[in-house]
Amino acid sequence: MNASLGHGIGLRTPHYPTVLEGAFDVDWFEVISENFMLRGGRPLAVLEKACEQAPVALHGVSMSIGSTDPVRHDYLRDLRSLIDRFDPAIVSDHLCWGSVGGHYAHDLLPLPYTEEALRLIVARVELVQERLGRRILLENVSSYLTFEHSTMPEWEFLAAIAERADCGILLDVNNVFVSAHNHHFDPSWYLAALPAARVGQIHLAGHSNRGTHLLDTHDGPVIDAVWGLYREAVERFGRVPTLVEWDDSIPPFDQLRDEAERARCIESEVLDGITRTA
Ligand SMILES: [Fe+2]
Repeated sequence: MNASLGHGIGLRTPHYPTVLEGAFDVDWFEVISENFMLRGGRPLAVLEKACEQAPVALHGVSMSIGSTDPVRHDYLRDLRSLIDRFDPAIVSDHLCWGSVGGHYAHDLLPLPYTEEALRLIVARVELVQERLGRRILLENVSSYLTFEHSTMPEWEFLAAIAERADCGILLDVNNVFVSAHNHHFDPSWYLAALPAARVGQIHLAGHSNRGTHLLDTHDGPVIDAVWGLYREAVERFGRVPTLVEWDDSIPPFDQLRDEAERARCIESEVLDGITRTA
């Protein structure tokens, strides 16, 4: 799946001028789909410019694939027209729910990992992929609570969704690290359980240590332990399009670029080492 995309960054408003000037040196961008579901204006002009110069991925935050609310056909229609217009390299959203009874939490809420939830989500992913005319990737979210009636671990649930619905996985390595800490599991178990052929993208981001738990804040650099887990992910999944997210206290473009470059260096080190020992 798009193994050649390389290492990119999440494109946010402060860096629009950099894209408009064409003065960037990253391989690709990811944008938040909902920010571009508009009829016109500056964001669409920026997206047009970005797409002229580099591959772009559309990353959604409000599909609410795990909700029991009806699938929103107007949302899928708007997303489809964005896809048709910009031909993104990847289309993704989150394995979570965010609405109930038409009320939106504006948050990426964790699911109970049960066979019942699995069946519901697989059917919804199939419907979404049919409406969008393409495969989507679903991302593991960070979480701070679990459901007592879950019958399987998150990694087993995610793998089963991907296999049964024939969708891809956007593996957020930072989210695995955060959830592993909060729920006391070994993050290596998570990576080991995922079907390698389904992992189509990796996210990296910073988080905050709040003492009692880790919080997925996206407001700082990737910490060393998450870089270590990324190294492990490359060992297991090989060359996967990788993207650095930074959503709060957003730094200058060059600092984000340097994070993407660090990911590139780690990937090269791991893959060169594997080649030498093969
Ligand atoms: Fe992410």
